[in-house]
Amino acid sequence: MKRRTLLLGGLAGAAGLTLLARPRDHGENHSAWFRQLSNALDGAGRAGPTLVIDRAQLAANVRTLQGHVQGRFDYRIVAKSLPSPDLLQAVIEESGSRRLMLFHQPFINLAARRFPDADILLGKPMPVAAAHNFYRQFDGGGFDPARQLRWLLDTPQRVQQYARLAAQLDTDMLACVEIDVGLHRGGAATDAQLLAMLDAIEAAPRLHFCGFMGYEPHIVKAPGDPLRYRDQAMARYRRCVEVARAHLGARWPADAVLNAGGSPTYQLYDQGEFPFNELAAGSCLVKPTDFDLPSLADHRPAAWIATPVLKSQDRLQIPGIDVGPLQSLWNPNRARSFFTYGGYWKAVPESPRGLLNNALFGRSTNQEMYNGSASIDLQPDDWIFLRPTQSEFVFLQFGDIAVYEHGAISEHWPVFGEGGFTG
Ligand SMILES: Cc1ncc(COP(=O)(O)O)c(C=O)c1O
Repeated sequence: MKRRTLLLGGLAGAAGLTLLARPRDHGENHSAWFRQLSNALDGAGRAGPTLVIDRAQLAANVRTLQGHVQGRFDYRIVAKSLPSPDLLQAVIEESGSRRLMLFHQPFINLAARRFPDADILLGKPMPVAAAHNFYRQFDGGGFDPARQLRWLLDTPQRVQQYARLAAQLDTDMLACVEIDVGLHRGGAATDAQLLAMLDAIEAAPRLHFCGFMGYEPHIVKAPGDPLRYRDQAMARYRRCVEVARAHLGARWPADAVLNAGGSPTYQLYDQGEFPFNELAAGSCLVKPTDFDLPSLADHRPAAWIATPVLKSQDRLQIPGIDVGPLQSLWNPNRARSFFTYGGYWKAVPESPRGLLNNALFGRSTNQEMYNGSASIDLQPDDWIFLRPTQSEFVFLQFGDIAVYEHGAISEHWPVFGEGGFTG
């Protein structure tokens, strides 16, 4: 073969490879479902960034969860992942559980007022000053903290602090011990540490040991075999129960709460004998993207951020040296530009399909740029939908949640706020 032919062949090959590497057009307009949701938001007069919950899918996710737990364990609702009293109310009604897990002192006061027959377990140990604030702000009602509020304690020092508070307030307090079953985020990690905490609780007349909390999300997050990690975690949990039962004898509480689990792991306990008696989960009921895990394959997203398009342009321009046209030339998914009402949330675009952020233009919490292909027909006042990556913080950023049901926005649910409910 002649040298020239070889060269030309090489060039053509390189051009072909470059073309192969060029991104395809991923753009797709809203499906009928998202068009209907857009109409519902318009119909409800929503005109800014809005957190939407699909009521039917929420209920379906509760049924999915119950299908796994099957009454073998009690179910505790992780309130931080569903941070709206009406949302919690809906889950309480769907699931029949009155057990809540809370992580923030002001929300404990709100939950005690709104759900006077709830059983509340803290998901993290609170500074004793925060516990004191709870009692200061507690305004009575049907909720009895001495029976219905389980403080989480992680060290003998914290036990002593709570013992002093209980004595000072002249009140009984339930003490749940945090145990480390492999996550290594604190709590009793050895038999000696566990016994030291139990002794400290026993020495405090107004503190009453009520069980364990052993959280184990590392089972599915750490590299390696989840079932091996699960079995190791459960061996440690079982050991803690044996040590405490042997130590306390008849003083072991008949109604001990032995809490484990979270959304990523709860399905790993579908079969087998395990030392805990209740499973906590919250996020899987709305399924943000962080929970797109094989262990949650049968849960479906039920929460969306909807935000109006403010501006739509048939080109991409970058201020200064304008590499926008080059970007569009290379990537058909950068042919158009849209600016949205707000942005930069912990969320990823979902519909229309194929929207991209633009790192060269930059992110904005005020007017976020998205690029999309020429196949996407988005006009000002249309809606863009994103999926939150997590619920606990993101849900609090939009005021009232818009509840989508039977093709319309049926309710507006205020979210938890520091001074009360917001909205
Ligand atoms: C102690 C504890 N239990 C359970 C959970 C599970 O919550 P979710 O189901 O929302 O992942 C968490 C989440 O952080 C937690 O800290």
